[in-house]
Amino acid sequence: MILGALSASDDPYLLSHVYPIGSRVNNRGHLEIGGCDAVELAYEFGTPAYVVSEDDLRARARAYTRGLAARNPDCDVLFASKAFPCTAVYRVLAEEGLACDVASGGELALALRGGFDPARIYLHGNAKSVEELEFALDAGVGHIVLDSLHDVERLEQVVAARAAGAGSGFIQDVLIRITPDVSGNTHAAISTGQADSKFGFGLADAPLAIERIAGSPHLRLVGLHCHIGSQLLELDPFIRAVTALATLGDYDVYNLGGGLGVAYVEAQEPPSIAGYVTTLANTAHAALGPGKRVLIEPGRSLVANSTVTLYTVQTVKRNVSTWVAVDGGMSDNLRPMLYGARYEAAVAGRMLERHMEICHLAGKHCESGDVIIRDIPLASPVPGDIIVTPATGAYGYAMANNYNGVPRPPVIFCKDGDARLVVRRETYDDLMGRDVE
Ligand code: LLP
Repeated sequence: MILGALSASDDPYLLSHVYPIGSRVNNRGHLEIGGCDAVELAYEFGTPAYVVSEDDLRARARAYTRGLAARNPDCDVLFASKAFPCTAVYRVLAEEGLACDVASGGELALALRGGFDPARIYLHGNAKSVEELEFALDAGVGHIVLDSLHDVERLEQVVAARAAGAGSGFIQDVLIRITPDVSGNTHAAISTGQADSKFGFGLADAPLAIERIAGSPHLRLVGLHCHIGSQLLELDPFIRAVTALATLGDYDVYNLGGGLGVAYVEAQEPPSIAGYVTTLANTAHAALGPGKRVLIEPGRSLVANSTVTLYTVQTVKRNVSTWVAVDGGMSDNLRPMLYGARYEAAVAGRMLERHMEICHLAGKHCESGDVIIRDIPLASPVPGDIIVTPATGAYGYAMANNYNGVPRPPVIFCKDGDARLVVRRETYDDLMGRDVE
């Protein structure tokens, strides 16, 4: 017998920990997220749809802010907003007191719209344009994280031109990104700490950049940043990275990046947020000395498990395998195709069904690679069934696209049994909205 979405415990109503906190199976045997019946949500809002448990988002945000503050009082938790750049998500995390990491002018615009204090926004990027730097300075962004000597030069020129124009001695606070030659066990496309990286300064090159900034009348180097990669399920690489930073001198501020992995499938047991921040704070204390300001930048581990995607089965085909095709796919979740990422799935209206058939969950896009999950046990799906894939909050909406002219899905926030649409579904008119003739 295969238990599918249910955890292998005795309690038939207990869902695996990949689902949002507070999710359950109701007495109709349907999945419930934030107190809302997932099948009813699918009928009301259509599919595909991203369904977010607001309480889950807030609970993880608090685990981060309280956990780090308890261990290193001078600290800030930055939402790495590339993970879920949706205004309503920025808004909730700003309300929860987080600061924000943006990696482009577009993310900066969204963060401002979501209510973040510009002084607590950090602008990243390995290829920032003059326009993006101008925008950041206009907005009063607190810190810019510099990534290369050209980046240093470009920012210096932009700040100098302003200072000259205004006749003032404005100085921009900056950090520099260090690539500490540490790689974790993750997909190569999301590993960033290795020496040969497009990001940051290697340990050997950093002293020159530090000296260069120290000599600038327009920039103030407040500290170092590093981010070694994403979806890391072990803590040891983080320890090695912090230890490497310590070789570069003594600073007031250390931004230790993001990268904590999450469970996409039940068998994965990532370190807890509390365990992760404790390790970071202890390592910072031991390697960098007491009293440092410690910043961290979680993305995935804040948002991934807050969200599920709902789809509707369109067709079921049995040839060599059983192919269950739904109304979304690589336009709403590119991760299986880009990184071979594994997800779980269930029939949201038959969560207690024990009889399972092994299926391939296929998307609707015109290529064979558009398979969301291979070899997944599902409760004998038929057209019209609602399928749920949990843990889609990180980099799903963020990397959504219009392949095959498929409109991007809506985002629905659920809390205490109320569902609210925070991003509407794209329309066919939206697909033509940028045409100029
Ligand atoms: N800080 C910096 C500078 C980053 O580049 C990233 C992620 C983070 C923080 C947040 O990392 P997280 O806590 O989310 O692991 N599209 C890929 C993930 C790319 C991550 C890019 N940088 C995926 O879907 O797996």
